[in-house]
Amino acid sequence: MSEWSGFHKLPPEERIERLARHAHLTPEDCESLTGGLSARTAEPLVENVIGTFALPLGLAVGFVIDGENIVVPMAVEESSVIAAASHGAKIVAGAGGFTTDVREPMMIGQVELRDVRDGKAALQIIAEQRLVWKERLNKLIPTMVARGGGVRAIEGRDVGGGRLVVHLHVDCRDAMGANLVNHLCENIGDDIAKACGGRRGLRILSNLATERTARASASIPVQALGGTSVARAIVEANEFALVDPYRAATHNKGIMNGVDPVVIATGNDWRAVAAGAHAYAARDGTYRGLTRYAIHGDELVCSLVLPLAVGTVGGMTALHPTARTCLKIMGNPGATRLAGIIACVGLAQNLAALRALSTEGIQRGHMALHARNVAAQAGLEDKEAERIARQMAAEGLVNVTRARELAAGLD
Ligand code: HMG
Repeated sequence: MSEWSGFHKLPPEERIERLARHAHLTPEDCESLTGGLSARTAEPLVENVIGTFALPLGLAVGFVIDGENIVVPMAVEESSVIAAASHGAKIVAGAGGFTTDVREPMMIGQVELRDVRDGKAALQIIAEQRLVWKERLNKLIPTMVARGGGVRAIEGRDVGGGRLVVHLHVDCRDAMGANLVNHLCENIGDDIAKACGGRRGLRILSNLATERTARASASIPVQALGGTSVARAIVEANEFALVDPYRAATHNKGIMNGVDPVVIATGNDWRAVAAGAHAYAARDGTYRGLTRYAIHGDELVCSLVLPLAVGTVGGMTALHPTARTCLKIMGNPGATRLAGIIACVGLAQNLAALRALSTEGIQRGHMALHARNVAAQAGLEDKEAERIARQMAAEGLVNVTRARELAAGLD
């Protein structure tokens, strides 16, 4: 039984006290969980600031990741997402926990060349010049190089029609790295075009960060899932997402239910992560589910691999007080550790959703929690809202009109 079991039954103040003890949060840290971003701090972040926009922040509990107990803050508006992540985490923790395998934090920057007459000769020039260019670029970013990062490789790709793309592979350490990579691409673009004899096109990072993938995996005794038939049904549900893009989109949305809220809570760029994940899902030309499931003996083995370009220094992660506290809650991970944690939340989320879909369907668990949301929309509060939510969930009829009817005693 996890020390976090039953956390959701505590009142909010006790949850925060419990978390504060676990993560050694100061009173200021605790305040940042609700106080968030002031309009003043927001002012330099975007343009024409008129305020800030809050989302619920919840805690997914009970994760065991590479042997470490972890709780994960999630900023999300949808009911049952955090419950499902915690449910998936609990199932996997009972089987020993998740294992991660995260690649180096390598971003790809693109320099596009147009109207290249001789692609083969241009690729040869790139191969000959790459070490010189690499050395020159690394001189522009001495602090990143001192931290162990920097340009690792430069390579060309002929994409046809006289168009060549030169990729800069840049190790960004704990930074997400977009600005750094763009700076390097803009600096070297004209020289590459001149050397290759083409017309210089765009110079910008790629959000398809195939060199920066994170893998989460777990092996769960089928008994812990309700037996072999449930495990088989989960494998078949995953196969559906591998062969049908319509199902794959929903399946991957469920994975992103886990991924995006952690990306948001840590002040990272969720559009970049989402674009990368969906492009990766279509990397063989067909859009497919991102997870893999198989039964080996008495175990259900599952894994998720996706590109995760997230940082833990600079930008919003440094400026947003709630993002700083969220990182502290997870033990102030570096970028690769954070990517591993996020992949585990994505896999936990998918496991819980597939288990529900393969057994009782999604409505019972999801609607029971969504009913509280609907009761609030009907203007109900506290105990009455809880009572009406329970009643609607039991009836299987969850909508604002029914909440109002029940509140008015119209059974
Ligand atoms: P349950 O079997 O009633 O839960 O599941 P339980 O009472 O056995 O509790 C198991 C654990 O779940 C708990 O452990 C908690 O960690 C967590 P405990 O603390 O008892 O040791 N848990 C909760 N956490 C917070 N608040 C709660 C709560 N209840 C349980 N109130 C549950 C209930 C909702 C977890 C389950 O039915 C489930 O996982 N369903 C999936 C829900 C889901 O995926 N929601 C996302 C929205 S639907 C969607 O957009 C995605 C989808 O389309 C993706 C796809 O198609 O692939 C489905």
